Amino acid sequence: MAIKGVIFDLDGVIVTTDQLHYQAWAKMADKEKIYFNKEINNRLRGVSRLESLEIILEQAQRIYSEAEKQELMDYKNNRYVQLIQNLTPEDILPDVLEVLNTLKTWNYRIAIGSSSKNAKIILQQIGLLNTFDAIADGTEITRSKPHPDVFLIAAQKLELKPTFCAVIEDAAAGIEAAKRAGMKAIAIGDAAKSNLADIRLNTIKDLLKLDELNNCD
Ligand code: BG6
Ligand code: MG
Repeated sequence: MAIKGVIFDLDGVIVTTDQLHYQAWAKMADKEKIYFNKEINNRLRGVSRLESLEIILEQAQRIYSEAEKQELMDYKNNRYVQLIQNLTPEDILPDVLEVLNTLKTWNYRIAIGSSSKNAKIILQQIGLLNTFDAIADGTEITRSKPHPDVFLIAAQKLELKPTFCAVIEDAAAGIEAAKRAGMKAIAIGDAAKSNLADIRLNTIKDLLKLDELNNCD
C-alpha cells in the first residue's frame, strides 16, 4: 500500500523534549526520594502524564492518594512547562527540517501524533506550529499510546485511511499504537528495541531513502 501521509511523534522525534520530561520527573522523584533512572524513563516515552507517574511510583515506598498524585503531576508539569519556555528552533533535532521539507516537496501530508498536552506550546516555541497539515495531541485523547487513538485522529485530520499512513516513533508504546492503528511503524532511537516495528532507522534522514517513501515510488 503506497504511503501518502507521515505522522511524526513529537517528544524525542522532532525535538529533544524527551530529555526535559526526564529532568522534570527526576526532580519530582528526588523530592519524594523515589528511585528513578534513564531505564525507567524509557518506559515513560509515549505514555500519558498519569501513566508515567504510576510507572515511577512502582519504586515508591508507600501508597500515594489520588490527591497526592495530582499534586505530583502538577509539580512535574510546572517544572516541565518552565523548561519548555527555553526551547527555540535550535532544539529541533538534526535533519528534521530537511526531512519535513522534502516530504512536502514530494506531496506527502505530514502530521504530529503526540500524547502530550503541551504539544502545541512546544511546536510554537520551535517555530513549527504551522508546518504540519494536522496536529493530534494529548488534549484530544483519553487513552494514550499504546492505544491507537492519537494516530487515528491524526489520519482522520489528514483525510487519509490508516493504511496510507506511516508513523515515526521513538517509543515502544508508539510503535504498538501505530500497528494497532493499522499503520506502518517506523522506529528510531529507543523504539528500535520494539519487535513490532516494521522498519528501524539509524537517523531520521534515512526515512528519505525508504522505497515506501521516496518520490520514485
Ligand atoms: C509524550 C511523552 O509525548 O507525552 C511522554 O513521550 C509524556 O513522556 C507524554 O508523558 C505526556 O506529556 P505531557 O506534556 O502531557 O505531560
Ligand atoms: Mg516520543
